Amino acid sequence: MAPAQYTRYVLNERPGRGPVNPRTFRKEVVPFDLKPGKGEILVQVLYLSLDPANRTWLNDARNYMEPVKIGETMRAGALGRVIQVGEGTKFAPGDLVNGTMGWTEYIIVPSKGYQKIVIPTGAELIDFLGPLGMNGLTAYFGLFNVGQIKAGETLVVSAAAGATGSIVCQLGKMVGAKVIAIAGADDKCQWLENELGVDKAINYKSPTFHADFKKAVGYFDVYFDNVGGDILNFALTRMKKHARIAFCGSISDYNATPKGLTNYMNIISQSAKLEGFIVFDYASQYSSALKDLTKWVSEGKLKRKFHLVQGLENASEALGLLFNGGNTGKLVVQVAPVDNAKL
Ligand SMILES: NC(=O)c1ccc[n+]([C@@H]2O[C@H](COP(=O)([O-])OP(=O)(O)OC[C@H]3O[C@@H](n4cnc5c(N)ncnc54)[C@H](OP(=O)(O)O)[C@@H]3O)[C@@H](O)[C@H]2O)c1
Repeated sequence: MAPAQYTRYVLNERPGRGPVNPRTFRKEVVPFDLKPGKGEILVQVLYLSLDPANRTWLNDARNYMEPVKIGETMRAGALGRVIQVGEGTKFAPGDLVNGTMGWTEYIIVPSKGYQKIVIPTGAELIDFLGPLGMNGLTAYFGLFNVGQIKAGETLVVSAAAGATGSIVCQLGKMVGAKVIAIAGADDKCQWLENELGVDKAINYKSPTFHADFKKAVGYFDVYFDNVGGDILNFALTRMKKHARIAFCGSISDYNATPKGLTNYMNIISQSAKLEGFIVFDYASQYSSALKDLTKWVSEGKLKRKFHLVQGLENASEALGLLFNGGNTGKLVVQVAPVDNAKL
């Protein structure tokens, strides 16, 4: 039976330069009047992906995607179950789907552009928000296409215990690189060394961080940077000739006013390359990358951790975990029980 109403969270007020706060989002409980039209599907949201980029979508500024509008349901990558289909879609009720949805219990989306999930051997549904989803693809294209990593090279990875970084570290080891991971807590460093097999993990909050970096890395070939800011500025002094920086993210500045890079002239003296990218740039190559990622997950070669938060009402507060290091692995909000996702 259809519910009489459902809950969604809309953007109430832009947070300016600071972090998301209790006024940023507004809860709305609205009548359930959702009926998919031609080419559309009605989806019950099961799992929401929380991503640092969610914060950047709240700024009224030029970005790779339109900003979320005031009064609009907060956008998010998500996994859901198709409840009802409009005419002419490739989906059937009960199908699991992956794609852009929002902070809502139910949503109508155009079926085009949404992928039907078939869970491979050795994987589970939530992996489609991890190694088999956007973070896996970001790690893959950032390291192989942008970073051009090769066996025997030295790879440095920041936010290494997070969703993207933890996959980059493992891909780096798989191709035979020496991998130095950077994270903000000793228990994260232990997980990276003992479970994910990096050569060394160093804590950027330690007063000896710069000395630790010099000792562990020497000079690097590839830096997969998720963080930007001070760590990137320091890393610019530790590049080998022809080093590559795959500039994936700059989370240290998403809630702040960037200070700028004072060491950038090393890019010239070391004939180095700093290249930004957005995973969507590689959309035409997703299917071949997913073949590799699926194979590695099925073979047990890619370990992953999920930090699961229960309840849509906790999404706003949980977003803060990405910025204070509260998550290890992929941060996900569970909106509905997976086995019970039906009207
Ligand atoms: N270019 C793309 O297409 C693309 C796609 C996906 C993600 N990204 C970017 O990749 C980065 C990682 O995203 P994710 O989804 O994988 O998140 P995540 O790594 O799972 O979580 C973010 C982590 O960043 C670290 N962090 C937060 N503030 C920091 C600071 N001031 N200095 C250093 N580290 C800090 C925290 O770990 P610690 O405890 O180690 O501090 C936190 O756990 C983000 O910058 C994101 O925007 C880019």
